[in-house]
Amino acid sequence: MELYDRFNRRIDYLRISVTDRCNLRCSYCMPEAGVEAKAHRDILSYEEIERFALAAVAAGISKIRLTGGEPLVRKDAVALVKMLAAIPGLRDMSLTTNGLLLPEFGDDLKAAGLKRVNISIDSLDSDVYRRLTRGGDLNKALAGLKKALELGFEPVKVNAVLMRGVNDDPKEFVELIHEYPVHVRFIEYMPVGAWDPKLYVSIDEFKANLARYGAGDPVEGPPGAGPATYFAFAGALGTIGFISPISNHFCGSCNRLRLTPDGKVRPCLFSDDEFDIRPKVRDNVSKDETIEFIREILAAKPERHAAHEKEHLKRLMYQIGG
Ligand code: GTP
Ligand code: 5AD
Ligand code: SF4
Repeated sequence: MELYDRFNRRIDYLRISVTDRCNLRCSYCMPEAGVEAKAHRDILSYEEIERFALAAVAAGISKIRLTGGEPLVRKDAVALVKMLAAIPGLRDMSLTTNGLLLPEFGDDLKAAGLKRVNISIDSLDSDVYRRLTRGGDLNKALAGLKKALELGFEPVKVNAVLMRGVNDDPKEFVELIHEYPVHVRFIEYMPVGAWDPKLYVSIDEFKANLARYGAGDPVEGPPGAGPATYFAFAGALGTIGFISPISNHFCGSCNRLRLTPDGKVRPCLFSDDEFDIRPKVRDNVSKDETIEFIREILAAKPERHAAHEKEHLKRLMYQIGG
C-alpha cells in the first residue's frame, strides 16, 4: 500500500520519539533544569508503539527513525528496535542519537536489527561542546561515533546545528570527513523554544566559509530519507551536507509523520496540530481502523511550514524529536 497526502506527497517515513529525557542539556533544545519526568502511564508503551507502527507500515510507511530526547536513555530501547525491525515491509530502521550510549548499546542495537545511526555532535571543540551541551564530554560522543563505524552501521551521519560564532568555521568537521567515512550535515537553526536570532546562519552564508576548505561538487550523498543535500571534498572519505529548513524549505517533498512519546501524531514539525493515537492502539481496535485514522491525520498535513511566522511552538524540540 502507498500513502499520499492531499498535496500528493508520498508519506513513507515515520519518526518516533521514544522519550523526552536526555543525558545532555543542549542549550537550544532543552531547559537547563532538564525535563520533569512524565508519569509512566503518560508515555506510550513499547507494545503501543509497535501496534501503531504495524498499522503505519501496513498503510505505506517503510522507514522508521527513533528519536528523543535521547532514545537510548529509555529503558530497553534495544527491545523496541528489535520489535520494530521485525515488522515485515519495513525497509529502513534508524536512530538519531547523541552517541554517548553507543559504546554501551551499539552491539545489541546492531544485533536487534538497527541499520544506521545519525549522531548529533554540534562542535568538535571540547570546550564549545561542553558549553553547548551544558556539561557534555566530547570524547564520549566521539567514542560513540567510532563505535558506530566499527560496527559497520552504514551510512554514519553527524548532525550539527549551525550557529554563528559557535561552529560556523567548519575546519574540524572537514578534518573529520578526511579521517573517517562519515557524512556531516549542517542544519539551519530552527526557531523553536529559546531561539536566538543572532545565532542563525543561512546555509548559503555558511557555504562561503566552507569554500575556504576546498568544497567540491554536489554529490548524491549517502542513502537516507531526509532532506539533506551533499558535497564531496577531494581526498575525503565522507561528505558534508546541508539541511536548510528555513532559507530553502523542503516541504514540497516532505515524506514524514512524527509520533511523540505521549502518543500524539504531528503531521508537521512546525504545526501544533496533534492527534492522539492512544485510543487507536488499544487491543480492541483493529489495524484497519488505525490505518483509517492515519489517513485522517494526513488530511491535516499542511502544504508547508510556517516557522517564519511561528517562533513559539507549544512543544520544544526535545519533545518532538526534530
Ligand atoms: P536521514 O536522511 O534518513 O538520515 O534522516 P534525517 O536527516 O531526516 O533525520 P535526522 O533526525 O538526522 O534529522 C536531521 C535534521 O533535519 C534535524 O534537525 C531535524 O529537525 C531536521 N528535519 C528532519 N525532518 C524535518 C522536517 O520535516 N522539517 C523540518 N523543518 N526539519 C526537519
Ligand atoms: N534547529 C535545528 N535542529 C535542531 N535540533 C534540535 N533542535 C534544533 C533546532 N532548533 C536537531 C538536533 C538533532 C536533530 C534531531 O534535531 O541537534 O540533530
Ligand atoms: Fe539531547 Fe539531542 Fe536535545 Fe541535545 S539536541 S539536549 S542531545 S535531545
